[in-house]
Amino acid sequence: MAEDGVLPLDKLTISDTVEEAEFSQRVLIRSILGRPDAGAGLAGQTLKVGGWVKKGREQGKGSFAFLELNDGSCPANLQLIIYADVAPLSQFTPTGTCLHVEGVLQMPPEDKQGKQSIELKVSKVLDVGTVDPAKYPLPKTRLTLEFLRDYVHLRPRTNTISAIARIRNALAYATHTFFQKHGFLYVHTPIITTSDCEGAGEMFQVTTLINDAEKLEKELIKNPPPSQEDVDLARSSVKEKGEIVAKLKSDKAGKPEITAAVAELTKAKENLSKVEERFKLKPGIPQKDGKVDYGQDFFARQAFLTVSGQLQVETFACALSSVYTFGPTFRAEHSHTSRHLAEFWMVEPEIAFADIEDDMKCAEAYVRFLCQWLLDNCLDDMEFMVEKFDKKAIERLKMVASTNFVRLSYTEAVTILEEAVSKGHKFENKVEWGIDLASEHEKYLTETKFESPVIVYNYPKGIKAFYMKVNPDKKTVAAMDVLVPKVGELIGGSQREENYEVIKERILEMGLPLEPYEWYLDLRRYGTVKHSGFGLGFERMILFATGIDNIRDVIPFPRYPGRADL
Ligand code: 4AD
Ligand code: MG
Repeated sequence: MAEDGVLPLDKLTISDTVEEAEFSQRVLIRSILGRPDAGAGLAGQTLKVGGWVKKGREQGKGSFAFLELNDGSCPANLQLIIYADVAPLSQFTPTGTCLHVEGVLQMPPEDKQGKQSIELKVSKVLDVGTVDPAKYPLPKTRLTLEFLRDYVHLRPRTNTISAIARIRNALAYATHTFFQKHGFLYVHTPIITTSDCEGAGEMFQVTTLINDAEKLEKELIKNPPPSQEDVDLARSSVKEKGEIVAKLKSDKAGKPEITAAVAELTKAKENLSKVEERFKLKPGIPQKDGKVDYGQDFFARQAFLTVSGQLQVETFACALSSVYTFGPTFRAEHSHTSRHLAEFWMVEPEIAFADIEDDMKCAEAYVRFLCQWLLDNCLDDMEFMVEKFDKKAIERLKMVASTNFVRLSYTEAVTILEEAVSKGHKFENKVEWGIDLASEHEKYLTETKFESPVIVYNYPKGIKAFYMKVNPDKKTVAAMDVLVPKVGELIGGSQREENYEVIKERILEMGLPLEPYEWYLDLRRYGTVKHSGFGLGFERMILFATGIDNIRDVIPFPRYPGRADL
């Protein structure tokens, strides 16, 4: 041990640096190559590694092979050298082969040292998962991201998808770190909901009526329902048995005789109710008054997949102050764009005693924290993104982490767009006060005009959701969207309307029914509080960070119109 209590790097053993190895029979490649000396100080140590071969080539007339092994813990591959006397080489070289091996770390020969800081000389092969290269769908050649979408189960093995997975993981960790650090409580809001948060009617319905109807249809084919004749027969049997009992009673018959006849009557009645019950069964979805009878559905009412956890998380903000939810959300929009998914993840903080200014401050601090986090924790993966996808990706992170976001009112934003039109800039969508900003408008503001993130606030109330706080001008609401280069809208948020009368009026004005929102109105009826919040589209954040073009490639299992693999 050195005097300052820190071991010099060349004295560190692998177990000093690797806690991850505790639960698996190998050390992670990151803990070798990710050290400041890129593993050079570990020469001479014996260890086990496991991973999938990226590239393999036999050399020295088949006397040994070099294998590039990747285990997903970092973008870099560990070079293995394996001699033919340890094991037959041909089964190891195909791309995709899984290997679990033991060996000794050694410095590569001097002339190769530029490329590899350290390599593993294999002494024992513990396990092999072979691959038939003629059949493996992901050969060595560079494959397009579009092609890989047909192999969502295998694509995590590619450099790009694994780098995105690590960046995604880092952003999730950073999200919890940021909110926990600022005293927010993590609340799990429901996936199944009975209220439409955005009031846009873009919800997936959750129902068992269809499977129940299909089951019943099959059952009725196997076991046909009774006819009217069967029902009449069962009825007359009850009548007959009843008359027998009455007769025995009036004849003052013996008790055992009467008991036996009553038992017969009970049996007949039970049979009748069964027959009548089955007689009522009708194939198809149950109806009442000409409409689907949701009273017979699983939840005894209509239910949906949530489009946002906001309304529910507000119940906790109105009790526990600063809270956030982070979960999957679902939208049945038929948008075939590179920025929309049918299932995506949203981070939604909700802050009590906070107005739109506080909300914007929080959104900006959070996005800047995420960018700095990637620079501090994911530089190797970000460098990969720069090399393969977007030269500006790291520059962009640095810019956002260090720049104050531009803030514009909606009215100012429209004025800027109108000026652009008057100077000859062509937009496909018309620009005038009252329009919902289209993606091209958002891009113009953030990419062309300001080249920086832009927060647009105070939107016309007609284009925003019912829960947003109406401003004193009665024309606009205290809404804000964070727009960033490359993506456009990254965050949507607002101060919430806390006035009972106003929000009730807004629900009615939007043509929404009051009943499903009664509980939401209670938050305003009892102990109402000024509060604000926002939702960050997690995949949009990953698009922004990585420079990847299509949102379908930054979520492990993309769901979009026509596609829900696995
Ligand atoms: O602007 P949105 O619709 O806001 C809400 O849902 C609010 N209830 C959030 C809140 O205030 N708690 O959605 C928020 C963000 C958008 O800015 C966008 O980044 C992302 O969610 N988003 C989508 N991402 C991928 N695919 C889709 N179909 C998306 N729709 C919205
Ligand atoms: Mg929005």
